[in-house]
Amino acid sequence: MTDSVMPTYGRLDIAFAKGQGAWLTDTNGKQYLDALSGIAVCNLGHCHPAVTKAIQHQAETLVHTSNVYQIPLQNQLADKLTSLSGMKQAFFCNSGAEANEAAIKIARKYGHSKGIDKPVIIVMDGSFHGRTMATLTATGNAKVQVGFDPLVPGFVRVPYNDLDALRMAIGHWPEAVAVLVEPVQGEGGVKVPEPEFLAGVRAICTQRKLLMMLDEVQTGVGRTGQWFAFQHNEALVPDVMSLAKGLGNGMPIGACLVSGAAVGVLQAGNHGSTFGGNPLACSAALAVLETIENDKLLAHVQTLGADMLSQFKSRLKGQVGVKEVRGFGFMFGIELTVPCAELVKLALADGLLINVTADSVIRLLPPLVINAEEAALIVDKVCKLVLEFLSTHAVESVA
Ligand SMILES: Cc1ncc(COP(=O)(O)O)c(C=O)c1O
Repeated sequence: MTDSVMPTYGRLDIAFAKGQGAWLTDTNGKQYLDALSGIAVCNLGHCHPAVTKAIQHQAETLVHTSNVYQIPLQNQLADKLTSLSGMKQAFFCNSGAEANEAAIKIARKYGHSKGIDKPVIIVMDGSFHGRTMATLTATGNAKVQVGFDPLVPGFVRVPYNDLDALRMAIGHWPEAVAVLVEPVQGEGGVKVPEPEFLAGVRAICTQRKLLMMLDEVQTGVGRTGQWFAFQHNEALVPDVMSLAKGLGNGMPIGACLVSGAAVGVLQAGNHGSTFGGNPLACSAALAVLETIENDKLLAHVQTLGADMLSQFKSRLKGQVGVKEVRGFGFMFGIELTVPCAELVKLALADGLLINVTADSVIRLLPPLVINAEEAALIVDKVCKLVLEFLSTHAVESVA
């Protein structure tokens, strides 16, 4: 530990020395099963050989030039992402917040092109979009915003998963130009909306000529069992989609993709990033996409994810102190009736990495590559930890 790093994180007193697949080894040599993937980043597990090889090769060939030149690997990655998503163009950056910043700028410029001077973007309660000024304003969690007034104007918030509230807000705000929404709220507590919610948002946006902007920073790149979570809804394509996290398997890269009315909004000089889409980051992302495809990981996530969810449900649903067990692909949320942050340390002692979000939701985001034995071990360890935790805490039952 050192005082030289700004204390912006509540860090646990543990450091890892190496990782392989779903396993990490700490600096004392103890092994841990990783059910968090660096918060949905190392989707192919740690040090996946295909990604390592791509990074090694590219590091020896060419790391960085500049976006003032052609970058063939960036073109290749844009071609691949647009063909997988059905979207038309990509802008590359380095993080999820930056991808959302690009989305927000697109929405505003789209508004200005329609003669709206003060465009409004509709965002959701309980959302998380990042820590830059615009994205923390868009985020529906007061904790992220406290101390940073004045926030950025031009955002209006509605409840998540509520199409009537969305319609009302749009009726109330003629300056509305876009709706920004996560297909599943990750930081907000693994909130899975009703199956018709996204299709409803799409229909409303189309009808009112608003951009539908999906934040797939956490849900994208295979996490939910499709390349992108919106693809669980047939024939639905958003106008804007932001990606990051799993795209580089740990190599920092983000992307903002556009389709429909969002194509052509940003022109030369409107946006940029020094590092965005450099050869090194793009080589890692291309290896990630190729591996997901070659190893048929989407089907694997669908099958094993459904199996894990049903095991969690059969062992925990109805237990006193367990409010809800939910999941989508390889995103799992076990909501308790009491705050449970201390479970993170209890799990560490048991050799397991988990996360608790929204105070009382155990969040699991295992690497997409885990096998059936590792999945069973995660389910077993988590269920035992939860039941033991609940047996020693005053909990309320849920009717
Ligand atoms: C849905 C979503 N959007 C945006 C972000 C911000 O991404 P980053 O931390 O890469 O800026 C996150 C990070 O957790 C996220 O989950």
